[in-house]
Amino acid sequence: MTPYQTNTDQSFVGDTWLPLRPLPAEATLASTSTGPVLIRRAVPDDAVRLTEMHRRLSPLSRYQRYMAPYVPDQAEMEALGRLTSDSGEAFVAESVGPAKHIVGLIYYIRSKPPESDRAEFGVTVADDFQGKGLGRAMLEHMCDRALANGVRWMEANVLPQNKKMLHLLDTCGRPLGKHRSMDCVTAIIDLGEALDEASLICFLSEAAEAAERATAAALCG
Ligand SMILES: CC(C)(COP(=O)(O)OP(=O)(O)OC[C@H]1O[C@@H](n2cnc3c(N)ncnc32)[C@H](O)[C@@H]1OP(=O)(O)O)[C@@H](O)C(=O)NCCC(=O)NCCS
Repeated sequence: MTPYQTNTDQSFVGDTWLPLRPLPAEATLASTSTGPVLIRRAVPDDAVRLTEMHRRLSPLSRYQRYMAPYVPDQAEMEALGRLTSDSGEAFVAESVGPAKHIVGLIYYIRSKPPESDRAEFGVTVADDFQGKGLGRAMLEHMCDRALANGVRWMEANVLPQNKKMLHLLDTCGRPLGKHRSMDCVTAIIDLGEALDEASLICFLSEAAEAAERATAAALCG
């Protein structure tokens, strides 16, 4: 368990549970139409709750995700919690508050070198949390993390009837390529060039300077 996963690290403020400590870079608090949900790296200890989440999925959601009546087993879920940046990353969405239900899973698996800038991903949101903005938040988070991890092309196979997922991809705000085969649509998101650390610092300091110049110009008239 990472420190921010414990109940003692959350505080009830107004009608919202908030983390008391800053979240690590690989985690984010997503706001959905039913309140905040924590998106964080999966750990092997999540495997039981992830298998449970899959068992509770409706047959339609399961079929849309796996294109078969498939329920991943605990070993498969544990392996996701052990992914290293070289092989991929897995993130779970966890309800915020004392119950801490796992309500979503997104992960990508990188191709082997020399194609390790390519990855394939899959996403699942528990039925009662679908349509609240969680899938979009998880997709955004994973794409940001994958880009920072050196992935350029992110691919998913989607059933042509899965209009919700296709809409999510079409509106993800990144260049998207799609090609259709007999029974599925392969969508490839272009995450863009990852900035190395030096370029990132340079980019951020230039942005900060530009903001200072704009503020000074506005104050001086
Ligand atoms: C597909 C899935 C991941 C989306 O997650 P979600 O949390 O339900 O999605 P969100 O609430 O973030 O966004 C859904 C979007 O689809 C839109 N949508 C819903 N039903 C739709 C439909 N029939 N046609 C087109 N768009 C639809 C919503 O309006 C929303 O778009 P908006 O933000 O522009 O309003 C989730 O529904 C799921 O797990 N489905 C089962 C498994 C699956 O299909 N996985 C994808 C295969 S990799």
